[in-house]
Amino acid sequence: MERLQKVIARAGIASRRKAEQLILDGRVQVNGATVKELGTKVSVNDKVTVDGVPLDKERLVYYLFYKPTGVISSVKDDRSRTTVVDFFKHVPERIFPVGRLDYDTSGALLLTNDGELANKLMHPSFEFDKTYIVNVNPIPTSDQLRQLATGVRLEDGMTAKARVQLLISDKEKGTASVQLTIHEGRNRQVRRMFSALHLHVRKLKRERYGFLSLNGLHPGDSRELKPHEVKTLMHETRHS
Ligand code: URA
Repeated sequence: MERLQKVIARAGIASRRKAEQLILDGRVQVNGATVKELGTKVSVNDKVTVDGVPLDKERLVYYLFYKPTGVISSVKDDRSRTTVVDFFKHVPERIFPVGRLDYDTSGALLLTNDGELANKLMHPSFEFDKTYIVNVNPIPTSDQLRQLATGVRLEDGMTAKARVQLLISDKEKGTASVQLTIHEGRNRQVRRMFSALHLHVRKLKRERYGFLSLNGLHPGDSRELKPHEVKTLMHETRHS
């Protein structure tokens, strides 16, 4: 037996939180009867419908996408801009991005229809390392690099410890490339960390998302995760 919201999230209809709302709104039926209690448990033999439509048991799929800049990390955009899902027209499952990268940020983004796993990965208590390559000007001083590593004061509090490495600096142009690994996932965190130190981010790319790297992918490319990678994701999120 499993909780109803979990079953709905697993079917790829909605995140766990949205599934709870669907239940509270009276849009979910079990064996024909509307159920509004969040604790309700169902078995595989129960017929669950949302707005009268049966949950189709979608195959769970997991994609690593190299998001180009100029693309929105959502399923729909009210201004008709290209979204990450537009790159997956060939995929029948209703996938959605796990978290987001800014419109102007490129890099590694996971898309799935597994609402349960997505919720775990996006929960603030889950700390997956995310590695960014930041093109910046002017060249950060060693004190600024130290601050990025030890913590920067933002309006929503100090940032946690991070790993920082100056990769390249061009003294003539006054630009540098910095590798930054953080495990928090606050909104626009990397841009805000640099901006707090009066450093201008010219380009931002997420090179790694946990153990998943962009190796072999070009902007706009995606690949399905290998079974062992899905297993590792499940394993790493098991206590979340
Ligand atoms: N930090 C940012 O500032 N932007 C992103 O897209 C990701 C992390």
